[in-house]
Amino acid sequence: MCGIVGYFGKDTKVLDTLVNGLKRLEYRGYDSAGIAIVAKDGQVFSKKAIGKIVELEKELEKSDISKFDKVGIAHTRWATHGSPTLDNCHPHFSQDKKIWLVHNGIIENYKQLKKELESKGVQFSSDTDTEVIAHLVQSFYNGDLKKAVQKTLTKLEGAYAIVVVSADEPGRLVAAKKGSPLVLGVSENEYVLASDVSAIISQTRNVIYFEDGELVDIKDGKYTITNFKDAPLKKKIEVIDWDDEAATKGGHEHFLIKEIMEQAKTMEDSCRGRIVSKSGNVRFGGLNTVKDKIARMERVVILGIGTSYYSAKLAELYFEDIAGIPAKAEMTPEFRYKNPYIDEKTWVIAVSQSGETADSVAAIKEAQNRGALVTGIINTVGSTISRITEAGVYNHIGPEISVASTKAFTSQSIILLMHAVMLGRMRGLSLRRAKAILEEIENMPKLAEETLKQNSNIEKLAEKYHKKNNLIYIGRNYNYPVALEGALKVKEIGYVHAEGLSGGELKHGFIALIDENMPTIAVVPQDSIYEKMISNIEEIKARSGIVIAVATDGDKEVADLCDDVIYTPKMKEEIAPIINTIPLQLFAYHVARLRGLDVDKPRNLAKSVTVE
Ligand code: AGP
Ligand code: GLU
Repeated sequence: MCGIVGYFGKDTKVLDTLVNGLKRLEYRGYDSAGIAIVAKDGQVFSKKAIGKIVELEKELEKSDISKFDKVGIAHTRWATHGSPTLDNCHPHFSQDKKIWLVHNGIIENYKQLKKELESKGVQFSSDTDTEVIAHLVQSFYNGDLKKAVQKTLTKLEGAYAIVVVSADEPGRLVAAKKGSPLVLGVSENEYVLASDVSAIISQTRNVIYFEDGELVDIKDGKYTITNFKDAPLKKKIEVIDWDDEAATKGGHEHFLIKEIMEQAKTMEDSCRGRIVSKSGNVRFGGLNTVKDKIARMERVVILGIGTSYYSAKLAELYFEDIAGIPAKAEMTPEFRYKNPYIDEKTWVIAVSQSGETADSVAAIKEAQNRGALVTGIINTVGSTISRITEAGVYNHIGPEISVASTKAFTSQSIILLMHAVMLGRMRGLSLRRAKAILEEIENMPKLAEETLKQNSNIEKLAEKYHKKNNLIYIGRNYNYPVALEGALKVKEIGYVHAEGLSGGELKHGFIALIDENMPTIAVVPQDSIYEKMISNIEEIKARSGIVIAVATDGDKEVADLCDDVIYTPKMKEEIAPIINTIPLQLFAYHVARLRGLDVDKPRNLAKSVTVE
């Protein structure tokens, strides 16, 4: 998925801007990193390193870069083609070392292009799909970089955002996009190109988002935007209101704990101005244009993957219970390859933190082809999904930097619950029930704050259990998706094998795993299915299993039955799963930290998975 940066501006700033930009984009991948800077005299200075940006910085410290000039490109890689070696590290270059470029995406027809180039005598120096682009640009180059790039683009199939420079034209950058994100930051005599705005906001808040099929040429200190066929385009400069501070750790040891701890605030931010208590209703400005269509829908499908899928699973229950409409959560990588039952009476809600997940983008397009109304619940403003959906709602929770999703889950779930209330009110949901749910939603920041006070107790539990290599998580009804999400968190950041199950599913096979070495985390609030969960816990205890419960404050019965208890406040059944996720996030965080792992950047993962 990779992060790319390009810079035109001041000699003194080129290196810092590129490296700082990469650091902001490191969440997109950290297999290797590299930069190339083009000097006035056409010399190209490049450094590469395997691993995280800090490794590249070490390389840069060893070198003298003062003679280098205004223009540079940089890349942080999440390998798709070719292992994370120095040869495969971007920027890639042409055989004559005059054309250099960074690429985010996949060139699907690279094998065929590579064959053609090799038959003409071109020698490749990497195993990547990307390298074909550099050789193609070189083959078309005739003194005008833009023309050469345009010709190259006609040959490429797949997804890309690229930034290209040429040693023959120092001071020029050409970038193009199709299928991968690209943003331009614009300030006086300075331009930053990047995969997203986080790499730009320390320079400028004025940005231009590119659409597929658009190309920008930065030359003689000016930029021009055209389509791939060179027709000029007028693009609006948008002003970003993200605070730079919002993208830093705010005093915490890791982004993850910062993001967990700020959930009382992010819950409030997700609801701000959206609840109309008097009429027991919800107002989403972003859905105004499609409200009439929504009212006519006969089915709801909620799309997502990973954590976003688990919030979709929760929403499936909300829509059926609160809005009385058939609802189904669908996992996006599976959705597009089956024959899903979707028609123009289906309201498809796409849930994605990044708004860039390739599987989800493809599933949305499939649903759109089948005539569905597709709206989004997205955190990243201006992202691909926010632009391809007909309408939608932003989370408004600021950037989520840590790879493991936490504040996005709670925000997505609240917003989905509000969607269910909104639809419910169009379909006969009583004012009384709607008001009761909305009042409790407004109370959620307080409930979250109360729950976050359990942090030190949870840390102690993590100390007790962090060496266990296997865990089971159980919950039922609304708390079943919580079990799934709790298990995912400890898997991805703690590298602990965990199973998320319905409490009722346990006896159908999984209970064979239970013994004194297999702890179970049971989410067991005092709700309508409490007695059944207690029976499931009894079944585990009867087989010498260890049980750690997440239970309602003061529940003595659970405390007597289980080995350890984490209490959460008494709350309404619909709200409980969202709040009950918080202790599981904290538990996973402390387990990962105590196991000495890279909490914010777990191995093999990337924050947004922009390849299928
Ligand atoms: C969650 O902790 C994971 N990192 C992952 O499952 C994530 O939720 C998934 O890749 C979907 O991302 P999105 O919400 O940005 O689409
Ligand atoms: N396909 C390129 C590589 O493997 C870019 C990867 C990406 O953007 O994910 O280097």
